[in-house]
Amino acid sequence: MDERGELDELLDCRLETARRAATPCTLVIFGASGDLTARKLIPALYHLHLDGLLPEPFRVIGFARREKSDDAWRAELFEALGRFSRTQPVDAARWDAFAARLAYCQGDLEDAAAYRRLAGLLHGFCPPELGRNRLFYLAVSPSQFAGVLAHLAAAGLIRREEEPPYWQRVVVEKPFGRDRASARELNAALTRHAHESQLLRIDHYLGKETVQNILMFRFSNAIFERLWSRDTVDHIQITVSERPGVGGRGGYYEEAGALRDMVQNHLLQVLALVAMEPPVSLAAEAVRDEKVKLLNSIRPLAAADVAHHVVRGQYVAGRGTGSERPGYRQEAKVDAGSNVETFVALRWLVDNWRWAGVPFYVRTGKALPLSASEVRVQFRPTPNVLFAAQCGPRLDANALTLRLQPHEGIALRFNGKVPGTNLTVRPVRMRFRYDSEFGAYTPEAYERLLLDALEGDPTLFIRRDEVEAAWALVDPIREGWGTAALTPGEFYPTGSWGPDAANALLARGGHAWRHPEPVA
Ligand code: BG6
Repeated sequence: MDERGELDELLDCRLETARRAATPCTLVIFGASGDLTARKLIPALYHLHLDGLLPEPFRVIGFARREKSDDAWRAELFEALGRFSRTQPVDAARWDAFAARLAYCQGDLEDAAAYRRLAGLLHGFCPPELGRNRLFYLAVSPSQFAGVLAHLAAAGLIRREEEPPYWQRVVVEKPFGRDRASARELNAALTRHAHESQLLRIDHYLGKETVQNILMFRFSNAIFERLWSRDTVDHIQITVSERPGVGGRGGYYEEAGALRDMVQNHLLQVLALVAMEPPVSLAAEAVRDEKVKLLNSIRPLAAADVAHHVVRGQYVAGRGTGSERPGYRQEAKVDAGSNVETFVALRWLVDNWRWAGVPFYVRTGKALPLSASEVRVQFRPTPNVLFAAQCGPRLDANALTLRLQPHEGIALRFNGKVPGTNLTVRPVRMRFRYDSEFGAYTPEAYERLLLDALEGDPTLFIRRDEVEAAWALVDPIREGWGTAALTPGEFYPTGSWGPDAANALLARGGHAWRHPEPVA
C-alpha cells in the first residue's frame, strides 16, 4: 500500500479502558416474573451468552413470589424471547445451553426464610466464587428496594465491607425516588447495607450506543469541540418523542408523569453529556464528576418562573397521524380526571463559562407524531451581509443533529448553491448513518449495562449526587405546577407535537422547534 493509502485507512483505536474480565458469579433477579425480566434482562443475557461475553461459570437465579419450577420459568422466558429478542429466530439449541444457567427461587420479598433459602442455594454452588460473587438486580417497585437490601444483609448475602476477592453489587432500576427528599432517604437506606461503590443505579439511556457516542464525538474530534460553546452555538434542542401512548403502564404513569419518568433521568443525562466539560480522564469518577458539575450549573427554575419556562400537556383522543387513538384519561388504570402530564417542554440555562446565555430546550411526550430522539445543536446565523442580507430569516443557520434513535446517525446541515443559472441557496446535509457505516448490529442498552455491572464498571451508572442534582432541577417544576388542574390549552390531540404553548416557549427566544424527521 502506498503512503497515502495507509494514511487513509480506517483504523480502529481500541481504548486501554476496554473490558475487564468478568469473574464467575451469580446474578439474582428480584422481580423475576416481571415485564422487565422477560422483555429486557433475559434477552440481553441471552445475547451476551451468544457472544461469549458472560463469565464462566455464571448462573442466574430468578426470585419471585409465584410457585413455579425451574423448567416452567425457563419455558416462560423462552416464549417471551421469541417476542422480544433482537435477533430472530431464537436458536433452540443455543437457548438450551443458556437456559441451563437459569434457576428459580420462589419467595416473598418480605419473608426472611426466603432469603435464607436463597443463601442456601448460593452457598451450595461450586466453585465458591460462583456463589460468593453476587449481582442483585432489583427489578421491583422502588418502595421495596430498602426492604430487599435489609433482608439480603440479614441473610449475610451482602456486606458493606466486601471480602476481596469476592464482591457483591446491587443494580437498582428507576425511578429512584419521587423527589430529592425521597431519593435522599432511599440513598441513606441503601447505603446502610451497601457501600456507594456497590450500588449501580441504572438509566438505560446511558447504555445506548448513540448516547455513549456523544462523548466520543465531542472529545475525539477537534473540529466540533471548537464549536461547542456560546461563541458559536445559538441554542440546543433535545427531543425525546414517543409515538405510543402509555398503553398498559397507566398505573405506573399516574404516579410518575413525563417529568419524573423521562426528564429527571434520560433527558438530563443526555443534556449533561452534551454540555459537560472534558473529564480529566475516562475513569468512571472523572466522567461522573463532570456530569454532576454540569447538572449543578443548570439554573434551577424558581417556582414563579415555571409558568413562563415550562409547558406541560396531556394527550386527548385524536387522529393526528393514522387512526384515532384514545386519550390519556381513557387508558387503563388512569383516573378519568387525571392531571398527570404526558408532555413536557422547557427551557433551561446553564450558568457556566461555556454556555452562559445559550438556551437548552428540552421536550418529551407520549402520543406524538413519531418515535425519535435527537439532539440538535443550532449554530448562530451568519452576519447580516451578503446572502443573509438578501435572504433574511430564510437563510438557514447551520445545525448539527445527533440522532439517538431510530435511524441512528449524525447530520450536519449547511447551505449550498442550487445548481443552475440563478443564484439560489438552500440547506443541504452531510450524513453519517450507523447502519451504513457499521452494519445493522446495535446491541441493546441492557447488554452493555449488564456486562458493565458484572465487571464492576460504574461509568454508565448514576452516582448518588447525580440523582440528587437531577431531582433538584425537577422538584421546583412540580412545585410550580402545584395541584392546579390542567387547563384546556394544555391538552393536545394524539399525533400532534404537544400543546401550542410549546411553540410559544421557543418563539419568545426567537426560536422554533425543528421536529425530528421521519426516515423511510
Ligand atoms: C423508560 C420510560 O425509562 O424509557 C418509558 O419509563 C419510556 O416511559 C422509555 O417509554 C423510553 O425508552 P426507549 O429506549 O424506548 O427510548
